Amino acid sequence: MLNIKACIFDLDGVIVDTAKYHFVAWRRLANELGIDFTERENEKLKGVSRIKSLELILKWGGVEIDKNRKKELTDRKNAWYLEHIAKMTPNEILPGVIPFLKSLQERGIKVGLGSASKNAVPILRQIGLLEHFGSIMDGTKVVNGKPHPEVFLKGCSELNVLPAQCIVFEDAEKGITAALDGGMIAVGVGSESVLGHAHFVIPDFKNMEFDVLLEILNEKMLSIRN
Ligand code: BG6
Ligand code: MG
Repeated sequence: MLNIKACIFDLDGVIVDTAKYHFVAWRRLANELGIDFTERENEKLKGVSRIKSLELILKWGGVEIDKNRKKELTDRKNAWYLEHIAKMTPNEILPGVIPFLKSLQERGIKVGLGSASKNAVPILRQIGLLEHFGSIMDGTKVVNGKPHPEVFLKGCSELNVLPAQCIVFEDAEKGITAALDGGMIAVGVGSESVLGHAHFVIPDFKNMEFDVLLEILNEKMLSIRN
């Protein structure tokens, strides 16, 4: 039986649909450099740090540039991204997220954030969710990006729970790998085709009940062990 004491949520694409703003801003930058990329390639950018994302795009386009220019380009992309963020409202919190967070609170389950983003705190503040998180681990606090488990391991330790007592919710392929490698229970939020390596995949939090999810996970873990 699982003994879940905490849930750690990724931000972009799990709590809010900022993944679409990242895509639009990266694509605008890429196009200016004469590079294009598809939504399928965009999956590879999810969960990946700002600088690593740029390096991947440059690689796809076969473009080489120096460190200073990379900084200039990531700053430009971030400025465009922040224009979208500044207009966000609590209405952009993904369906079912607030009731799910509330149900965790009612059950005494601790709640943390585990994101690669350096914009996590301003985004949570903008959508009015900052106070829901007992721990916020983000791109300003980790050295190793996903798929390294550092962000989730640090989150567990700040929440004072063991990795095996924690469920991680992630929309990124690399985020699921990070959670699995960290020894947490990994729940994918999105499509089975991208997140099939998770312990379980949900399309979103709409009508998602913690107790039902826990029951499913308990069954899955039993069948994995047998
Ligand atoms: C992750 C996103 O949450 O944060 C990535 O999935 C993004 O797409 C990364 O590159 C870093 O975000 P930011 O806000 O620091 O540029
Ligand atoms: Mg994400």
